[in-house]
Amino acid sequence: MPSVVVGDITRLETDAIVNAANNSLLGGGGVDGAIHSAAGPELLACTKQLGGCPTGEARITPGFRLSARWVIHTAGPVWRGGNANEAALLANCYRHSLQLALLYQVHSIAFPAISTGAYGYPGEQAAGIAVESVRPLEQNFEKILFCCFSESDAAIYRKLIDAT
Ligand code: APR
Repeated sequence: MPSVVVGDITRLETDAIVNAANNSLLGGGGVDGAIHSAAGPELLACTKQLGGCPTGEARITPGFRLSARWVIHTAGPVWRGGNANEAALLANCYRHSLQLALLYQVHSIAFPAISTGAYGYPGEQAAGIAVESVRPLEQNFEKILFCCFSESDAAIYRKLIDAT
């Protein structure tokens, strides 16, 4: 059963944290900026070698100065009103991140609320996709955390998880 925490994902000590990146993987603001800042310059030097990440896919790097051993970078969809395959692409972000985590023997992983900041995805819809997408794979992990940046976001996730 996933759990919900409120705080800065860069402080978590899970095996992996997931970065809500962009297609370039060259950093940005929001959680992407926080992760690059906490991980240090080696992260950007590493992501530069990856050649980007298509929306919905995931790439893994070391966490460098982060407590987390790994960072799984995924590029979420930009919200364009809901008729541009956003839901499927967002679901792919969670699914592909978990599949990649399994390949690297990750036992604990934390997700931010992918696409709900700069990319404008409505929070409730995104949270529903997040909770539904991790369900088929959650038994393979000791801990799956949804790391929210506000109590209001956390309340959305808790309501959805309690309802399952
Ligand atoms: N820890 C946890 N969550 C955070 C943190 C943090 N340190 N900083 C921001 N968040 C939350 C935001 O409040 C939001 O709920 O992460 C969620 C995702 O917001 P963004 O970081 O804006 O990511 P996204 O909406 O997916 O947009 C991605 O923004 O930063 C750029 O390079 C990034 O172009 C990409 C785009």
